[in-house]
Amino acid sequence: MALIRVTPVPENEEDRLEALRAYGIVHTGPEAAFTDLASLASEICEAPIAAVSFVDESRQWFKAALGLYVLETPRDSSFCAHAIAHDGIFSVHDARQDPRFSTNSSVVGDPGIRFYAGAPLVTPAGFKVGTLCVLDTVPRALTGLQRRALRVLAAQVVTRLELRLSKRELARHEADIRARTDSRIRLQRQKQDLVSLVVHDLKNPIAVILPNTGFVLDHARLTEEEREALCDIERSARAMHGMVMNLLDISRSEAGTLSPAWATVRLKDLLEEVRRTARRRAEERGQKLVVSSSLANDCVRADADLLRRVLENLIDNSLKYAAKTKGTIRIEASSTPDGIVDLAVCDNGAGVPAAYRERIFERYAQLDPDTAKHARSSRGLGLTFCRLAVEAHGGTIWAEDRAPTGSAFRMRLPIGLLELRGATANGDPSNDIALRVVRSVAPGGTRDVTSTRPSAMPAQLGHSRGVP
Ligand SMILES: Nc1ncnc2c1ncn2[C@@H]1O[C@H](COP(=O)(O)OP(=O)(O)OP(=O)(O)O)[C@@H](O)[C@H]1O
Ligand SMILES: [Mg+2]
Repeated sequence: MALIRVTPVPENEEDRLEALRAYGIVHTGPEAAFTDLASLASEICEAPIAAVSFVDESRQWFKAALGLYVLETPRDSSFCAHAIAHDGIFSVHDARQDPRFSTNSSVVGDPGIRFYAGAPLVTPAGFKVGTLCVLDTVPRALTGLQRRALRVLAAQVVTRLELRLSKRELARHEADIRARTDSRIRLQRQKQDLVSLVVHDLKNPIAVILPNTGFVLDHARLTEEEREALCDIERSARAMHGMVMNLLDISRSEAGTLSPAWATVRLKDLLEEVRRTARRRAEERGQKLVVSSSLANDCVRADADLLRRVLENLIDNSLKYAAKTKGTIRIEASSTPDGIVDLAVCDNGAGVPAAYRERIFERYAQLDPDTAKHARSSRGLGLTFCRLAVEAHGGTIWAEDRAPTGSAFRMRLPIGLLELRGATANGDPSNDIALRVVRSVAPGGTRDVTSTRPSAMPAQLGHSRGVP
């Protein structure tokens, strides 16, 4: 009579195999956590053989095995293949008497198995991927306590599997983030290279156009038409120069290299220079430009070029966005006795709605890109540059409402009323540690004042800040 040796296959076999594959455990090396649990099962159940076994399509594979000298066995001769088709612990009292196992090579031959008890490894989704099993060479049964312990230890094996899976996912996630960060850094570098290239190629021709148009405008006899045309050229070149410089400094700030070239600066001179530069454009638009200063002492420690370009950007905005009002643009300057300098550029244009007053400092932010088309090169970069330049000075900048109408862009800068202690006026910024804010300085009493005006260039161009 033929013996029945049919190995049962769980109903959800495909999904079960998928769950097993997801753990990525089969064919991995020994791990103490699994070996320890098998060893504990062996001790508690007083069985000479114990194993953590996983059952795949065709075999059972041992992650941990005590008293067994094989790594895997065919599925159809496996006790565990029966255990995973069972709920709860599957046990065989005496394999010789069980038609399913009596001809099994491990029963008739080495190691001569008689007793088997296996607790299925049930995943959180309910799939039985393997067993924690104990085996003996004599017929026997487990006590109630041993059965309970085997179940608990099997649950521990699953917890270990889950932990391993989480770690793998975490590692994959980290690798993913690393790859994405690397590619972002690569892109950032490419962008910076591109900006440097563009800035380099554009800045130099503009640096030639601007002083020359200024020179011709000031000295040549021109017809009204010629003057108009030249003014157009100058306007466009200046707008492009502003955009190129803003772009350059924003990209420097991103690269962490926007650090002020500290020098002692006479603020009143700087304000006057800015006013003179913008006056013609203001007059063309029927706007007035006034400087109102209540500075106690106007010597500050700052980067004159950065500070001037902040003011120029703000005035440029007032000229652009308050153009219809034909009002007054005010540049206000004041200081507190403890060295805080407040600067503001105010206009009586339409103002900026409260909801947008923060957002306009973000890159490329424009309330109404159509309005900004006044200047073809308007890109929503001016205020971004202003904030970065002010922050590089340790200050803050914000937009306010101005009654009855208009906006005020205010800056608070800790740069004023300095007495130099052992630092040279154009010295290393680290010397700034040696700078001390003094409470009262007699008017004109500050020492070591240097002019910030470039000698041979028009004021609006400024001196080179080491453009690549
Ligand atoms: N004085 C102002 N009055 C009204 N709106 C303003 C004023 N200043 C700025 N804005 C608004 O804030 C937006 C951002 O200004 P920002 O200077 O950053 O960019 P832009 O002037 O559009 O372009 P860019 O400065 O690059 O030439 C402007 O597009 C405008 O909508
Ligand atoms: Mg602007």
